[in-house]
Amino acid sequence: MRILVADTFPETPLNEITRRAHDCAYEPETTTDQLPDKLDGHEVLVVRSTRVPAEVFDRADGLRLVIRAGSGTDTIDLDAASARGVHVCNVPGRNAVAVAELACALLLALDRDIVENVTDLRAGRWDKKHHARACGILGRRIGVLGLGKIGLAFAERATAFGAEVHAVTKPERDRQTLERARAIGVHFVDSLHELARTCDALSLHLPATEATRGLVDRELLSLVQPGTIILNTSRAELVDEDALIEAMDDKGVRAGLDVFADEPAASTGNIDSRLAGHPGVYGTHHIGASTEQAQHAVATEVVRMLDAFDAGEVPHC
Ligand code: MLT
Repeated sequence: MRILVADTFPETPLNEITRRAHDCAYEPETTTDQLPDKLDGHEVLVVRSTRVPAEVFDRADGLRLVIRAGSGTDTIDLDAASARGVHVCNVPGRNAVAVAELACALLLALDRDIVENVTDLRAGRWDKKHHARACGILGRRIGVLGLGKIGLAFAERATAFGAEVHAVTKPERDRQTLERARAIGVHFVDSLHELARTCDALSLHLPATEATRGLVDRELLSLVQPGTIILNTSRAELVDEDALIEAMDDKGVRAGLDVFADEPAASTGNIDSRLAGHPGVYGTHHIGASTEQAQHAVATEVVRMLDAFDAGEVPHC
């Protein structure tokens, strides 16, 4: 196998790949523009955040497999891949706990005004009365949108803090998910509008699809209570960012966001500060999956997929 690993990859699994591959190029700083040249006849491409648009497939003659070392495949042009006969697989679930942990961290940090606390102390200001105004998580109602592996991992952790977790009843939910949700203690409500009206926080754990794009829009935000916390550790496309800014300005909604519509394609760059710099936002750099544990688990699965591919099988997660 000739493999290009075009994103940061943990050392031990990378050594495993190098041992197996006829040629393994490790180019963690590769940008999308550089991909066609760097691919240069490689059969397998392993990427994490780097986007793989149609142009890459048009110019990558020998490419047969793309592995996305993460949950979503929205960074890859699947139609172009399939038109060129390139198999694409992703690694869902292996980073679920890491993402759920970040959503919890943002929730707790927002409730306690941690950023403002730390900022004041760093500036040498002590103001205990001003900062002593958190609500607490015990007994608060948290709406979870999306009960996949990440949503369930978040629900489990939120209930451990004593929150009441609610989700929308969906006829298409499979029995296993329902049983797991019920075992965690998730309560079901009839509609998204009811969830928005009745919860103190909403946490998004859905992929970006036609059905989920703009789910948190002006209409939904008009229903939430003043001070509601919106957590988005999944995809920016789920939220109408202008509507969110309005809700933060007009009724003190606050948001914990790990994802932004104008995230730079490269690992460094600039971002529009209208949202990321808004005082109602605690923002992070799309780092939900960025724990050593999660990256190691994802990478180990990538190695397993490469073994399957090398054995002539169609790898799947
Ligand atoms: C994912 O799709 O799992 C994450 O967004 C990928 C990442 O940042 O590693």
